[in-house]
Amino acid sequence: MTIVAWIDRAHREQWALGQFNISNLEVLQAIVEAANQERSPVIVGVSMGSLRHIGLPYLAGLIAGARQAATVPLFFHLDHGADLTTVQACIDIGFDSVMLDASRASVAENIHLVRQAVAYAHPRNVGVEAQIGETWDEETGDRVESRTDPAQVADFVEQSGIDYVAISFGNTPGRLEGTAAVDVDLIRACAAQSPVPIVLHGGSSIPDGAVHLALAAGAAKINIDTVLRQAATQVFETQYGSAAPPADPRKAFTAARDAVRQVVAAKMQLFGSANKAP
Ligand code: G3H
Repeated sequence: MTIVAWIDRAHREQWALGQFNISNLEVLQAIVEAANQERSPVIVGVSMGSLRHIGLPYLAGLIAGARQAATVPLFFHLDHGADLTTVQACIDIGFDSVMLDASRASVAENIHLVRQAVAYAHPRNVGVEAQIGETWDEETGDRVESRTDPAQVADFVEQSGIDYVAISFGNTPGRLEGTAAVDVDLIRACAAQSPVPIVLHGGSSIPDGAVHLALAAGAAKINIDTVLRQAATQVFETQYGSAAPPADPRKAFTAARDAVRQVVAAKMQLFGSANKAP
């Protein structure tokens, strides 16, 4: 089954696939371990920052390794792809899904750019996500927000040809503390207009209760990054702030991997994707 088919299934059954973003090898290992443990289909997200940090040649190797290690459906997705060149490069090394994020442009320009990504992706059996409405930018820290107008959603999806649509609903991607005051009614209104499933960004700061309501409303893909970074960072702080810091960094990385695995597993249970893998 393709990622599009999995997200469609989740949508029909009112649960969501988690997209968990990687920063390095150990976070990827943690995500695959959690997915195997929870018998959950999983999406591995790669942001532009992580793409730069890891580099395409190494990423190609990580994809091959993860596919070998996974015993459940596993998909690689480009998160907030900045341009068509990056989209094409990721598809060429084996990504299953891409986001072309032109949400800061006009709706017409957004559609124009996303259609080009769709034209490259669909013949290669790759799913496409795009966003209508502006949200906090996790990579730059820019906090511009303009919420999605439900009346524009159907037209945006149909004209762009995308498979799942991200919206702005009071979510706060990259938020380090506290929770977002998300507008579940807006999620519901957008989902009612959308011919495809809804994607929620900023999953780290969406309260659990809102997640449950969003699943019932039509969200079928939820993106998580910040809480994974925080889980790893807390381990490093504890280990290297202690009286006997590890001389071998693998000791800290191993503990960080375990902490990230536990966070991912808990989110899979929250999203209802646990035990959905064949
Ligand atoms: O696409 C990535 C998500 O928006 C991640 O948001 O870092 O708040 O979990 P988060």
